[in-house]
Amino acid sequence: MRKKIVAGNWKMNLNKSDAHILYKNLESKSYPNDVEVIIAPASIYLDSFSNASKVSISSQDVSANDNGAFTGEFSAEMLSSMNLRFAIVGHSERRTFHKESDLLIFQKVKMLLKHGITPIFCCGESLSDRESKNHFNIVKSQLSQILTMLSKKEFSKVVVAYEPVWAIGTGLTADPQDAQDMHSFIRGLISEAFGSEASELTSILYGGSCKPSNSRELFSMKDIDGGLIGGASLDSESFESIVNSF
Ligand code: 13P
Repeated sequence: MRKKIVAGNWKMNLNKSDAHILYKNLESKSYPNDVEVIIAPASIYLDSFSNASKVSISSQDVSANDNGAFTGEFSAEMLSSMNLRFAIVGHSERRTFHKESDLLIFQKVKMLLKHGITPIFCCGESLSDRESKNHFNIVKSQLSQILTMLSKKEFSKVVVAYEPVWAIGTGLTADPQDAQDMHSFIRGLISEAFGSEASELTSILYGGSCKPSNSRELFSMKDIDGGLIGGASLDSESFESIVNSF
C-alpha cells in the first residue's frame, strides 16, 4: 500500500504570528491515521515548528550544494540537523522565477537523499504545452533525470507531485480524469525505469487549485495518492477538509 499524503505549500505567505496561529490550528485537529499531513512554511520559520506532532514539516526548497559560501541559501545538511523529513524541489515557481533546470533539480534531489530527506519532486506542463498536446512529453522530460540517474533504492524515497502550471493559483483544476491520465502515465514511466512494484509504491500527488470542493473526486482516482495544496492550505478549515476527503 502506498502512502497517502496531503502537503500544504504555504509559499511566501504569512507573517510570523499568522504562521504560528495557522500551525497551532492545524496541530489541534485530528487527521486519518493513514494520511501523512505535511506543511511547508517559509524556510525562516522551519525551526520554530520542529516540535510538531500531528503534521510533518517540509522545506519548500534546498540548495544543490554542500555547506559553504552560498549566501542566502540553506543546505540539506541543515534541514537534516533540524530533523526535517521532507523538502519540495522543482516547484514550477522555482523553475520559472529562478530558472531552475532539470539538472539543478536533480542535484537537489541527490543532496536531499544523501541527508535522508524525502524529496517531493514537482513536475507539470504549461498551458501552451497542454494546448499543443505536448504535456506528456514535457512531464516525461522533467522526470528523465530522476528516472535514469537515481538507483531504485534512492528513487524509493521520492514522492512525485504533478502540478500542471496552468492550474496553480488560477482556480482552474485539472479535470480529474485528465489528472488521472497523467498520474497513470507517470506511474508507467516509473514502472519502465524501476519495475512495477516500485511504481506501485510511489506516491504521486496532484497540485493545482485543489480545494475542499474538488479534492474528494481527485483523490478517488486510482493513481492520485494525495495533494500538494497552495492557497487552500492557508486556511486551517479548508486544509483539514481536504485531508479528510480521503
Ligand atoms: P494552488 O493550490 O494555490 O493552486 O497552488 C498549488 C501549488 O503550487 C502547490 O505547490
